[in-house]
Amino acid sequence: MTTPRRRLHIQSWGCQMNVYDSHRMADLLRPLGYEPCETPAGADMVILNTCHIREKATEKLFSELGRLRALKAETPGMVLAVAGCVAQAEAAEVAARAPYVDMVFGPQSYHRLPEMVARLSRAAGRVIVTEFETDEKFDALNGASAPQGVTAFLTVQEGCDKFCAFCVVPYTRGAERSRPALHVLAEARRLAAQGAREVTLLGQNVNAWHGEGPDGRAWGLGRLLRALAEIPGLARLRYTTSHPRDMDADLIAAHRDVPQVMPFLHLPIQSGSDRVLLAMNRGHTADDFLRTVDALRAARPDIALSSDFIAGHPGEREADHAATLALIGRVGFAQAFSFKYSPRPGTPAAALTAHVPEAEKDRRLQEIQALLRAQQAAFNARMAGETVEVLFTGPGRHPGQLSGRTPWLQPVHCDGPPSLAGHVRPVRIVAGHPNSLSAHLVPEPEAAAA
Ligand code: 5AD
Ligand code: SF4
Repeated sequence: MTTPRRRLHIQSWGCQMNVYDSHRMADLLRPLGYEPCETPAGADMVILNTCHIREKATEKLFSELGRLRALKAETPGMVLAVAGCVAQAEAAEVAARAPYVDMVFGPQSYHRLPEMVARLSRAAGRVIVTEFETDEKFDALNGASAPQGVTAFLTVQEGCDKFCAFCVVPYTRGAERSRPALHVLAEARRLAAQGAREVTLLGQNVNAWHGEGPDGRAWGLGRLLRALAEIPGLARLRYTTSHPRDMDADLIAAHRDVPQVMPFLHLPIQSGSDRVLLAMNRGHTADDFLRTVDALRAARPDIALSSDFIAGHPGEREADHAATLALIGRVGFAQAFSFKYSPRPGTPAAALTAHVPEAEKDRRLQEIQALLRAQQAAFNARMAGETVEVLFTGPGRHPGQLSGRTPWLQPVHCDGPPSLAGHVRPVRIVAGHPNSLSAHLVPEPEAAAA
């Protein structure tokens, strides 16, 4: 019997891990005959893979569901599913407000998709699954996966036990769990065989990863990176997102010792004020962070840093905000993300009373962003005239152009033939723009001599 062909549309919101999860949902549904399609029109199944980290997530979901409801009415048999962190946090509300949704499942239960689909086809009604089953899920992820291309993502760790006062992640993604080293290594080998040249390890607290290595010893992320660096074909390794408290000496040393580990690190600090860091329950001071930055720079002098900042956390005063600006000035970031504090239901910070007025949060955010933008522009501008190695990922915006990334994650636009995709080549940077670099290929003989 042949499996009927069905069309699957997945919309992914939020972080890279959601993008990875969406790919894996497609992998799990492929044996049932589902092939990914670009638009929801005419799809047999639509999955909204949602994000709950900041404001308006729930409203965004319901407005999208309103649109899809009309489409579902015109499409007999269409299955509508809500997945991800909003599904985990608000399953009951989704079920009550959108009774036409067929499946609601959280990030730790999507490995049961084939079973959920079977349950749906056996009985009309709805399937809701929000248990935390990370270990079973990790096991289910060991099957075949569709190629991701030159740059690939690989989940090695999920969940978080840190309970920062503002954050929903410990509630939506559950407790911290690491994927076994052997499984990670096997998936990385598979990705390399499928053409990946760069692998980014993913985890909400990726540098808390730990496990038993194939040698029977306790491994941390630094050791795992050293093992991954031995896989032929993998030219570049990255990992995100890290917590300052888990930046141990061996991981810092891996930046010094392993050429495949790229000189770029996303290390969120959230605030430069010890008062606010304490209120946030971050478990470190601004000074601890600065010492880690110094150690990273001593290990790898060209390392570039990125971070996350929250403007207007409850209780944040003007002096705290000034401390954040001072810390940004002291470190110098190559890029960074900054957000206005947004109260998340059920988190301790949302229950605090000293909320910062909206206009004040706006102003502080703008000041933080202006400084970060200037630092990013200066970092890119400094590259002009330099020769750097670029991993070409595919065609660029214009004909005859290629896109790629520097070791410091800057997007590069460069003239060159499409056959260079998947290769690392030296380029000369012609100009550094606020968000990207333009470059020329270094001619072959010169490249060979370099
Ligand atoms: N409000 C604003 N920003 C938040 N983040 C997480 N929770 C909140 C919140 N409630 C930001 C943090 C985190 C990033 C992924 O999102 O900076 O590092
Ligand atoms: Fe959220 Fe803090 Fe955990 Fe990061 S470390 S996921 S900010 S609770």
